[in-house]
Amino acid sequence: MKLQLGLLSTALLFASCATKSTAEQDIVSENFEFSASQLKHAFTEIDSARAHLTEKQIANNVFAPRNIEPDGSLRLVASRDWCSGFFPGELWYMYEYTGDDFWKEKAIEFTAPVEREKTNGGTHDMGFKVYCSFGNGYRLTGDSTYRDIMLESASTLITRYKDKVGCIRSWDHNKDKWQCPVIIDNMMNLELLFWAAKESGDSIYRDIAVNHALTTIKNHFRDDYSSYHVVDYDTITGDVLHKHTHQGYSHESAWSRGQAWGLYGYTMCYRETGREEFLDQAKHIAGYIFNSPTLPEDLVPYWDYNAPNIPDEPRDVSAAAVTACALYELSMYDKENATIHKDRADRIIESLTKNYRASLNNDRGFLLLHSVGSGNSNSEVDVPIIYADYYFLEALLKKAKLEKEGTALL
Ligand code: GLY
Repeated sequence: MKLQLGLLSTALLFASCATKSTAEQDIVSENFEFSASQLKHAFTEIDSARAHLTEKQIANNVFAPRNIEPDGSLRLVASRDWCSGFFPGELWYMYEYTGDDFWKEKAIEFTAPVEREKTNGGTHDMGFKVYCSFGNGYRLTGDSTYRDIMLESASTLITRYKDKVGCIRSWDHNKDKWQCPVIIDNMMNLELLFWAAKESGDSIYRDIAVNHALTTIKNHFRDDYSSYHVVDYDTITGDVLHKHTHQGYSHESAWSRGQAWGLYGYTMCYRETGREEFLDQAKHIAGYIFNSPTLPEDLVPYWDYNAPNIPDEPRDVSAAAVTACALYELSMYDKENATIHKDRADRIIESLTKNYRASLNNDRGFLLLHSVGSGNSNSEVDVPIIYADYYFLEALLKKAKLEKEGTALL
């Protein structure tokens, strides 16, 4: 009940934002208005895509939009795909903003298929899948079945923790290349563990999250605070074996979304622990991003800060959206630079709104164009991708709350 009332006051807060007429508040309400129409279009696109599924896709239970394929079709993925939680998460954000049960019902429908991931210990992506879907659902409804699913997911995730390394192993693939690969993206999955520690009272979740974040500070970053994508460890000795990329331009380049994951991850770790080294790390990462000579005026980065043919390289809108989310929150903690962080986040939101938004009732129902999944393997290049949309809506909610209540915490 407490949570339901919480949602009511949040929806009223956002409703009052929508009626105010300052330019800053209008950008939030206008984007949510656009998103409401566009996501309704997405449902029709999903239905059409479902009508053309292969037998294999039906057997795999594909259900969630991920990206637009080179042939223009909508790609739906199954729960085991790392992107399965983002579309349900967007629907929860729509419910949060509007308070409209239509979105709640849709969110429940698209969240349900992700449940089977709670026992999938084959990847580190549990946080992306379960926290974005069930996590938002639990926060907004207080449904105890969601809580149980999240706790089981967290206990599955920590089976991947390697004591000797001090990190959660990210991937099991490419075993010929890596022994225990840990990717910077994995910082995002720690939020589920911090939540589980608070909810269950078991400190093991928090200890693992903190160890992972500390080990990552030690081994993932260069002197300029840009980060490697993949660090491979020896599970027996804990030594670093390789510092590689998988989706960036080269091993020594700075893959743009990786920098954004790091910024968001360390800002969140500071929120959860109050440890100064995490805040310092977030500030340093922001410093790297915004001092980068290749960051364009509109603050939407190329897919890699060191991509070879800048300015003739695709942008990565998803990196910009994740960065905006992180900056709204960082502005609460780094008080000295609060205005700078907030202004930069606002500029990103303005750029995305003006120049990167999809066309209404088109673009397969996605909100934003021009993201890059893996430039390195020429996969999902310069297309709409679901996580850009998810973090765009999250950034808009954080902006509205920060301006109205002085907190970006949802
Ligand atoms: N976590 C995978 C990616 O950012 O593409």
